[in-house]
Amino acid sequence: MGEQEKPLALVTGSSAGIGLELARLFVADGFETIVCGSNPKVHSVAEQLSTDGSVVAVQSDLTTAEGAEEVISAVDGRPLDALVLNAGIAIGGAFLDVPLDRHLQLVEININSTLRLCHGLLPAMIARGRGKLLLVSSLSAITPTPYESIYGPSKSFMTSFGHGLREELRGTGVEVTILHPGATATDFHIRAGMGSTRFGDNSWKNDPAEVARQGYEALKSGVTSLVGGDEETQAAGRELRAMNDEDKARRQAAMSRPDRSSS
Ligand SMILES: NC(=O)c1ccc[n+]([C@@H]2O[C@H](COP(=O)([O-])OP(=O)(O)OC[C@H]3O[C@@H](n4cnc5c(N)ncnc54)[C@H](OP(=O)(O)O)[C@@H]3O)[C@@H](O)[C@H]2O)c1
Repeated sequence: MGEQEKPLALVTGSSAGIGLELARLFVADGFETIVCGSNPKVHSVAEQLSTDGSVVAVQSDLTTAEGAEEVISAVDGRPLDALVLNAGIAIGGAFLDVPLDRHLQLVEININSTLRLCHGLLPAMIARGRGKLLLVSSLSAITPTPYESIYGPSKSFMTSFGHGLREELRGTGVEVTILHPGATATDFHIRAGMGSTRFGDNSWKNDPAEVARQGYEALKSGVTSLVGGDEETQAAGRELRAMNDEDKARRQAAMSRPDRSSS
């Protein structure tokens, strides 16, 4: 197989965490892979992952329309075989204690960049009649998330959007898979300023490589929606679906309220 015949994948938020592990899987599977992040570190990640120059880095800030355009431009109109929208942030703290601008930044990356990248990149995949879209949502999509107040709603958006899109794309050859990781041992919650909560401790969380593997296999086999994580996480997902929102909010608050952690 010649170089140009390699399948093409793009993974946002692939300079760290779950996205990095997903990018590793694409590279190992012989994909030309575009890795993305807002920090210069993404360039060294591309170098580390690449054995033959087939990993390309895009450094751009997905809280801006320009940043999403830079990602779209890097694809240069080529149809992607796999598009993984994984970049995302959370912000810890009570809704009114967090400046509005920070909440709006979260909306930009978790919601608006999803729309921008889907709108910009799906048409070429549909025109070719094949491709896979993986949306990395969260188990938080199915629970209110007090003290991380906009995060859960932003992931509910992603999940609902993904299911709707999957239906609209039926028959086009482009399939949508939605991954709902449970808590995963990355720097995500520390970056969110949640170090003083139960989420600040990574020891009880899922392995990002395992969560990525589950998402990757689901993407390949066209699964619609899955929970990412170990058996306990799968059981937590089933339990959440059976609970009412008021109880879920109370339970979540006990985990996410600043300065009241695991005890
Ligand atoms: N960790 C969890 O417990 C957990 C649970 C459920 C769902 N998830 C979801 O899984 C996804 C990945 O999370 P993770 O735990 O792997 O997070 P992570 O380790 O913090 O990695 C986040 C990635 O997103 C990129 N990113 C952050 N802000 C960005 C911006 N403004 N523009 C472009 N890229 C940006 C980061 O790159 P730069 O630093 O270079 O910007 C990094 O590559 C997220 O969507 C998250 O909501 C995580």
